Amino acid sequence: MPLVLPLGYRYLGELCQLESPLPALAIIVLAMRLGPLTLASNLFLSPLAGYTNLPFRLTVRELGGVGLATTDLVNARSLLEKKSKALKLIETAPADRPLAVQLFGSVPEEMRDAATYLESLGIAGVDINMGCPVRKVCRVGGGSAMMAELDQTARLVKGMVDAVKIPITAKMRLGWDEDNLTAPDLASALEDVGVAAIFVHGRTREQGFSGTVSLAGIRAVVRALKTIPVIGNGDVTTPQAAKMMLDQTSCAGVSIGRGAFYNPWIFQHTRHYLLTGELLPEPTFEERVRVMCRHLDLMIEVFGEAHGCRMFRKVAPWYAKRFGPAKEFNHQVVRVASRAQFLEVLANYRRWRQQFLDENGELKPRFRPPPMTPSFMKEPGTAQSGSIPVPRGPVEIW
Ligand SMILES: Cc1cc2nc3c(=O)[nH]c(=O)nc-3n(C[C@H](O)[C@H](O)[C@H](O)COP(=O)(O)O)c2cc1C
Repeated sequence: MPLVLPLGYRYLGELCQLESPLPALAIIVLAMRLGPLTLASNLFLSPLAGYTNLPFRLTVRELGGVGLATTDLVNARSLLEKKSKALKLIETAPADRPLAVQLFGSVPEEMRDAATYLESLGIAGVDINMGCPVRKVCRVGGGSAMMAELDQTARLVKGMVDAVKIPITAKMRLGWDEDNLTAPDLASALEDVGVAAIFVHGRTREQGFSGTVSLAGIRAVVRALKTIPVIGNGDVTTPQAAKMMLDQTSCAGVSIGRGAFYNPWIFQHTRHYLLTGELLPEPTFEERVRVMCRHLDLMIEVFGEAHGCRMFRKVAPWYAKRFGPAKEFNHQVVRVASRAQFLEVLANYRRWRQQFLDENGELKPRFRPPPMTPSFMKEPGTAQSGSIPVPRGPVEIW
C-alpha cells in the first residue's frame, strides 16, 4: 500500500527525507490542495497561448508528473458568445484532467458567467489572467492592467468566487515595474475574497522576459498570504531549478511553461528529483523522437492533418533544440504539410545527423547541447547569456 502523506498547502520538501519503516512500499506524494481539489503533484503546466493546446497537454500528461494544466487564455466574452475559436481553446478529453481554463476580461458579469459556464462543463478550475502585458488585453482592463486596479479587481474576482464551487485562481507578475511591485498586496486582497491560489511569474510587466526571475519577489508574495498556496513561475527548465524555487521562496508548487516545451519530461523528472534527490538522465534522441511523433499524431487528431501539420511547424523546432545540430531538420520542417512529409523530413534528418555521432550512435561531445541554466541560477551579470527563447505566437510578448 502506498503511504500518502497529506502535505497541506506548503511545500514540505524535508518530508522527502522521512525514513519509513517500509521504505520500498512508501511513496511520499507531493500532493497539494487547491481549494476543494487535491492535486497529485505540485507541478503545473503554465499557459502558453498558441502552444499549450489539447495535444500538448496530452503529450506531457502521458509522460507524467503534472498536477494541473491550464489552457491558453480565453476571452470570457467570446466564450459566452460560443465563438468557435474560444470553444476550440477549451476543448478537452478524459485524459486531460484536472484542467483549469484561463480567462481574461474586465467585465465582472462576463467573467462570472464564463466561470459558471466552465463549471457546468466539468472544468476543474478557473484561472484569471492578470499577468499578460499585451496591449490588446490590457486596453480592455484585463491582464496586467488588473494589477493596478486593486479594489476593482478584487470585486470582479469576488463575483466569480461567489458564483462557483470550483477553485478560482489568479496568475500575475510581480507588478507593473520595479517601483510598483504590487503582487503581494494584490494577492492578499484576492485571498480575502476567496481565491484558492496565486500563480506568480517572478518578473515585472516592464521586464517582459528579460533579466532575472526574482525569487525574493515570489517569496514576498508567499509571505503576504495567510493560508492559500503560491505557485512560483519563471525560467524553470530543470528539476534543480524547481527545487531551488521551492526552497528559496517557500512557494507550494512550481508552474512551468517554456521549460516544458524544451523538455516535456520535466514534470516527471522534477517529481522524481523532489521525491528521491536523484536526477534522471536526459531522454535519449530516440525517446525525444518518439514523443515528438506522438505529439504530432495528437495534433492531427485534434486539428486535422493539414492544420495540425501546419501548427506543428513551430512546435517541432522546440524538440530539435535538444537534438544537437538540427539546422537541416528546422529548415525542412517549416514546410511540412502532411504526416508522410514529416516522416520523410525526419528520415532525411536522421541520415544527415549521422555525421555528428560517434561509433556508439551518441552525439560526439562537442555537438551535445549545453545544459540549461535558468536566469536565477546564473552568476550575476550573465543572466542574458543563454536565456530561454520566447516562442513566437499569436502574441509577441507576455
Ligand atoms: C508564447 C507565450 C504565450 C503565453 N501565453 C500565456 C497565456 O495565455 N496566459 C498566461 O497567463 N501566461 C502566458 N504566458 C506566460 C507563461 O505562462 C509564463 O508565465 C512565462 O512564460 C514564464 O514561465 P516560463 O519561463 O516557465 O515559460 C505566455 C508566454 C509565452 C512565451
